[in-house]
Amino acid sequence: MQRLHIHPQGPIFSRIISGVWRWRLAPEAVERLIQTSLDEGITTFDHADIYGDHSNEEIFGETLRKQPALRNKMELVTKCGIKFPSDKRPKTWVKHYDTSKEHIIWSAENSLKMLHTDRIDLLLIHRPDPLLNPQEVAEAFSQLKQQGKVLNFGVSNFTRPQFYMLQNFLPMPLVTNQIEISLARVEPLFNGDVDLLMEQQASPMAWSPLAGGNLTGERELFHKATRYQASYSQLSLAWLLKHPSNIFPVIGTTKPERIKEAAQALTIKLDRQDWFEMLRVATGKDVA
Ligand SMILES: NC(=O)c1ccc[n+]([C@@H]2O[C@H](COP(=O)([O-])OP(=O)(O)OC[C@H]3O[C@@H](n4cnc5c(N)ncnc54)[C@H](OP(=O)(O)O)[C@@H]3O)[C@@H](O)[C@H]2O)c1
Repeated sequence: MQRLHIHPQGPIFSRIISGVWRWRLAPEAVERLIQTSLDEGITTFDHADIYGDHSNEEIFGETLRKQPALRNKMELVTKCGIKFPSDKRPKTWVKHYDTSKEHIIWSAENSLKMLHTDRIDLLLIHRPDPLLNPQEVAEAFSQLKQQGKVLNFGVSNFTRPQFYMLQNFLPMPLVTNQIEISLARVEPLFNGDVDLLMEQQASPMAWSPLAGGNLTGERELFHKATRYQASYSQLSLAWLLKHPSNIFPVIGTTKPERIKEAAQALTIKLDRQDWFEMLRVATGKDVA
């Protein structure tokens, strides 16, 4: 498995990342997914405080509680800033965003507890918050970094102006913007979102890289996949991996065999014309 700096001053992550959003499973099943990922060289795990109705960090943390030695073999990403009504959060009555200093610090410290770890490798603001005060975010990030609780910071689902604005107030680089990129959502490759990250020397993290299992085009591209001796899912990941911004796909499967399959996508060297043909099939038209 390839390992790369997501940013020159940021952490080294496995090129394919395991996302735990859908891992609301029994602790033994999660332990197996963690182990399979690690066996395949997928050492980076993408969490959020809210995944599994605020349960998934805790379920994952159970494995780290039982096997603390695993912590040094992995990198942990988590997110904060979304709140929604839930039995676990009785004081929240409306879905909203909270990027106040107080909440960012509380959420990061809570993630540390849930995950049974002393540090988070990368903390992301999950969604752009219309009430985001960049000075407060800067204070929260600085405090967490200075205390060694969070080592790196980034954002998710931010537009270019939102990214620039926040970066302007921070003493440290935003090392990524985690955005939706796949053959079903190619816009970030054309609307400047990915170009901004390249300019900042930050690599994108691509969420739902297989469109949550809803990619089309498999029938049209069946022969191409056969020629590469790959599955259509592997070809679709190889399509993302070819981009020069060094996209880190965040896969979401709950099946160990599909984690193994995804890890092999890195061995596929996609031809440039095949890349454009896949784009044509996905968008229904040739480039201009
Ligand atoms: N930042 C954000 O706002 C945001 C938003 C959404 C997601 N995320 C992150 O991105 C991660 C991935 O999202 P995602 O789960 O939508 O990603 P995905 O990899 O595009 O989709 C995974 C889904 O596709 C299904 N699937 C069907 N065929 C598959 C195949 N051949 N190989 C693999 N999966 C197949 C999986 O089912 P099986 O489980 O049955 O394999 C699973 O339900 C999440 O876990 C989370 O960490 C972030």
